[in-house]
Amino acid sequence: MLSESMLASLNNQVKLEAASSQAYLAMASWCEIQPGYDGIAEYFFQQSEEERVHMLKLMRFINERGGFALVPALEQPIVTFKGLKSMFEDFLKHEMTVSNSINELVDLTLREKDYATHNFLQWYVSEQIEEEKNARILNDKLEMIGEDKSGLYLFDRDILNTRNNAGKKG
Ligand code: FEO
Repeated sequence: MLSESMLASLNNQVKLEAASSQAYLAMASWCEIQPGYDGIAEYFFQQSEEERVHMLKLMRFINERGGFALVPALEQPIVTFKGLKSMFEDFLKHEMTVSNSINELVDLTLREKDYATHNFLQWYVSEQIEEEKNARILNDKLEMIGEDKSGLYLFDRDILNTRNNAGKKG
């Protein structure tokens, strides 16, 4: 059985994963209407799907443990961007926020001696290491490329490999 505070914190994480899914969907849509960003658009469509899976996994766990997973109300995410660089900076910032939130949840499980939830969250801890690493790599690459058009072409062409190399599907 989940404590009241654990239930509230897990439902808060459900909301954050749902908001991540929406934020990345907005990035995908914006990229799709820019000329030449088809690969990046596909990357964020897949990333958005993945965040939805993160949300669902949490919801199923909450209900399985005797809580009630709440479908959250969400604000509209940022839908337009100054450029790729600022969009990818937002992406990294967003992942860092998610990592902090997961860490706080893990901290709560230890304070409450809720070892089942602690065990469940380890998957998210590993996932966040991977997600932050990928976001950093992409930001570093963009920094290196700068305004070089052929570099951006290759970035767009190769971005899905970042996911595939990390063992992500689709
Ligand atoms: Fe599920 Fe990328 O946070």
